Amino acid sequence: MKWFHEAVGYQIYPKSFSDSNGDGIGDLNGIRQRLEYLHDLGVTLLWLGPIYSSPMDDNGYDVSDFYNIADEYGTLDEFRLLLKEANALGIRIVLDLVLNHTSDEHPWFIESRSNLDNPKRDYYIWAKGKLVDGVEVEPTNWASFFGGSAWQKDDTTGEYYMKIFSNKMPDLNWESQAMRDELYSMVRFWCDQGVSGFRVDAVAHLDRAPLVDSTMDHDGRYKPDWRQFSNRDKVFEYLNELHDVVAPYDVLTVGEVGGGATLEEAIRYVGYDQHRLDMVFTFDHNWKNGAWNSLSEDYQPQLDLPGLKEDFARFQIGLYEKSWHALYWLNHDHPRVMSQYGNVSYHKESGKMLAATLYFMWGTPFIYNGEEIGMTNADFTSLDQFKDVAIQRKIEELEPHYSKERILRHLLVVSRDNSRTPMQWSSQNNGGFTTGTPWIKVNDNHSWLNVEAQLADPDSILQFYKQLFRVRRTVLSTVLYGTFELIDSALFAYRRVGETTLLVLSNFTDQALPYEHAVNIKQVLLQNYPQLVDTKSLVLRAYETLVLEVSND
Ligand code: GLC
Ligand code: CA
Repeated sequence: MKWFHEAVGYQIYPKSFSDSNGDGIGDLNGIRQRLEYLHDLGVTLLWLGPIYSSPMDDNGYDVSDFYNIADEYGTLDEFRLLLKEANALGIRIVLDLVLNHTSDEHPWFIESRSNLDNPKRDYYIWAKGKLVDGVEVEPTNWASFFGGSAWQKDDTTGEYYMKIFSNKMPDLNWESQAMRDELYSMVRFWCDQGVSGFRVDAVAHLDRAPLVDSTMDHDGRYKPDWRQFSNRDKVFEYLNELHDVVAPYDVLTVGEVGGGATLEEAIRYVGYDQHRLDMVFTFDHNWKNGAWNSLSEDYQPQLDLPGLKEDFARFQIGLYEKSWHALYWLNHDHPRVMSQYGNVSYHKESGKMLAATLYFMWGTPFIYNGEEIGMTNADFTSLDQFKDVAIQRKIEELEPHYSKERILRHLLVVSRDNSRTPMQWSSQNNGGFTTGTPWIKVNDNHSWLNVEAQLADPDSILQFYKQLFRVRRTVLSTVLYGTFELIDSALFAYRRVGETTLLVLSNFTDQALPYEHAVNIKQVLLQNYPQLVDTKSLVLRAYETLVLEVSND
């Protein structure tokens, strides 16, 4: 048993959480002011999005100094204070660790790009352009996650550098042992500061295929062939090294594995006998409502509930007793789960139902800031309200083909900014997030959807989250170590069998649905309606959820 098995995690997107000095940007002192709130919620582990020095092209994922705090967020001393105060409340802190790339303003890159034979040249991935019919093109036809090519030409030396994210985020070359050693020293520095671990950003991408064009069948000039730089063998070797670096410290590592990691790959990352990472965030369950079809004229959001259940079951069953796992609905790269799978017309019911469905599975919960009050997608009315660097280029690519209204509708269901609007603390101006002008628009629904209102309402989603984590503790050994079994049903229904037997039933629709099987209830542990209609034949009302202790027959 490791300490993080029992932890309740919470992700903070620093830029949007709490602004203490009125500049419109969240900061470390703002987080410090909210520690009591987090403690009261039951949180024991905080994952902070990147707080290092950065030109903020991608809100801090573009690091220019790994050893310092971004000016807008505070100072190293303020970080130490935050760490100390959090620890005093029993809250550990996990940092985002960006190892795939740096900012183009990082001193390593400035040196690397300056000439062909400086010692830092091979810290990054450089290649000559290719001649096609006498015209120079990028070294490969690979696309970037943020649109356009995965390569950017640099005039100083006339070569291209690889960048699978933004132009200002050149990819590090993990083949360079010297470069890796520098990163490992940095990791030790933060362990020595007393952090409890790392969420390892974009970890699936640390190695790439030989530089050969993708043959993917795809219309665009650049092919979104993510397998060229995802989950490749060498990544696993590098992670064994990283494991050795952190092994002397009692820290947690959780890797973000995009690029469509399979169950087998997940086991390679996190299996107890693999000595790599402690857990992974997989992406399978994030997009089960057809949101990516939202450019088409007849788009209607539609939840694929069987697919969603299958995605969870695959990892709950496939990783069981082989590794540890992370439970989450969304992070700062996804739309709000209330808007994805919940229903604002049943705000309380669906917000609570989503929580109960997820957090009685086994693994370490990671609540995303604002999820605990049921925050929704952004309410932007024009394209210029979006700030995410990842979509600027995509908007340019879409504009010749679609109306502005269509693009807006699309982005309001898929954009990463949906989860990056400021935390809604109160009904005051700007939701109590800042006394200044927020860097991104606050959702107008903060008038009724906010922390203050939910603290005052005993029946709120927020109160339910607190209750849920209290109840979860009373059956913790079953929740953490019991078996998981998906039950055939029109509901999301699963059984956990350990010291006790738990049955979790959730209705993901606005229609009443019967539970199709007989059930012998010992105790209702948690519910989101005042009482059961009938304990013999269970009919779940709109978005109703029940966590039951049942007899095992
Ligand atoms: C990860 C982060 C995302 C960021 C990207 C590049 O996917 O979660 O926000 O843009 O890596 O660092
Ligand atoms: Ca601030």
